[in-house]
Amino acid sequence: IMGDADRIGEWFAPGEVDVIHLNFSDPWPKKRYAKRRLSAPSFLEQYKAVLSSQGKIIMKTDNAPLFEFSVPQFLSHGFSLEEMSVDFRREEHPEDAITEYEEKFIEQGKPIYRAVFAKEKA
Ligand SMILES: C[S@@+](CC[C@H](N)C(=O)[O-])C[C@H]1O[C@@H](n2cnc3c(N)ncnc32)[C@H](O)[C@@H]1O
Repeated sequence: IMGDADRIGEWFAPGEVDVIHLNFSDPWPKKRYAKRRLSAPSFLEQYKAVLSSQGKIIMKTDNAPLFEFSVPQFLSHGFSLEEMSVDFRREEHPEDAITEYEEKFIEQGKPIYRAVFAKEKA
């Protein structure tokens, strides 16, 4: 789907989605644009609505400030932390596809931050 993720609640029925991947989302570093980060509360509420009861969100980023912003956002909006790494590619992970941007960041020697969040039972 080509579109803004703030409409995800219109694209999927409640509980229809098993996994959402947030891969190297734009960090929107300026505080006045924090609402546009894909881990901002308005997005998290929509993710919760479309995710199934076993639903998960897998987030990867090269951006430490975005990661530091995002983890507490998830934890205070109904998600629990299942896995976390601040250097995910230190070890081989053939089960996890390397995205286009990720490949560039790995070549630059940047650590990849990754977390898996599970939707908490209502
Ligand atoms: C740095 S690129 C990463 C692209 C790809 N996921 C990867 O890992 O190679 C960030 C992407 O996030 C998309 N993006 C950022 N905010 C978005 C939003 N609100 N809705 C949909 N896509 C968004 C941008 O269009 C861009 O393609």
